[in-house]
Amino acid sequence: AYTTALIVAAGSGVRAGGALPKQYATIAGKPLIAHAYAAFADHPAIDRVVVVIAPGAEPLAQAALGAVTLVTGGASRRESVAKGLAAVTGARVLVHDAARPFVPAAVIDRVVAALDAADGVIPAIAVADTLVRDGTVVPRDGLSRVQTPQGFRTEALRAAHAAWPADDEATDDAQMVQRLGGSVALVQGDAMLDKVTHPEDFAAAEARVQWESR
Ligand code: C5P
Repeated sequence: AYTTALIVAAGSGVRAGGALPKQYATIAGKPLIAHAYAAFADHPAIDRVVVVIAPGAEPLAQAALGAVTLVTGGASRRESVAKGLAAVTGARVLVHDAARPFVPAAVIDRVVAALDAADGVIPAIAVADTLVRDGTVVPRDGLSRVQTPQGFRTEALRAAHAAWPADDEATDDAQMVQRLGGSVALVQGDAMLDKVTHPEDFAAAEARVQWESR
């Protein structure tokens, strides 16, 4: 099936500090966003890549990516995905956070394969630490961390966004599809997919690239 990768990069990127929004700061000599872009553009299962950027970021995005399909995002991740979806073509879409620059091809393979039997697919990895919620200790058994790329039947994700109340800020597309009764399958994620959020994450990401390319 024709598959579009939708990379959302319209966040402010300010928690990472720095002179540029983090999407355009470099890791291993390449803008952060260009890493994920290349992973999808180079993958044989992906037919097209659409990138959602913040208003006014066109010059930065063009400098980082060249001539690619750009869509202006919104005030929240949910809005940015919804705006990007309007430009998506094809039966399947993989939604990915630009903040996760390293996308193993094997994860894309797993997400795409599992879409044969589900409305949505999420990569997840088991939680290594016990958690606490509002002061109550939550055992880690059965808990996983959800990453992106998340795969969807395009129609299922469009329906979820159309039905979602505008005053409810969902942080996760699979949550929206599942709430509407859609089936969501889990596949194994990868520690490489962890988000780059804070200044110190850049050093860790840089180290990861060096290690990967030994
Ligand atoms: O802030 P958070 O880490 O949840 O953002 C996840 C992804 O969503 C990032 O890649 C960010 O650029 C994107 N985003 C967006 N539009 C927003 C807010 C976040 O595309 N308004």
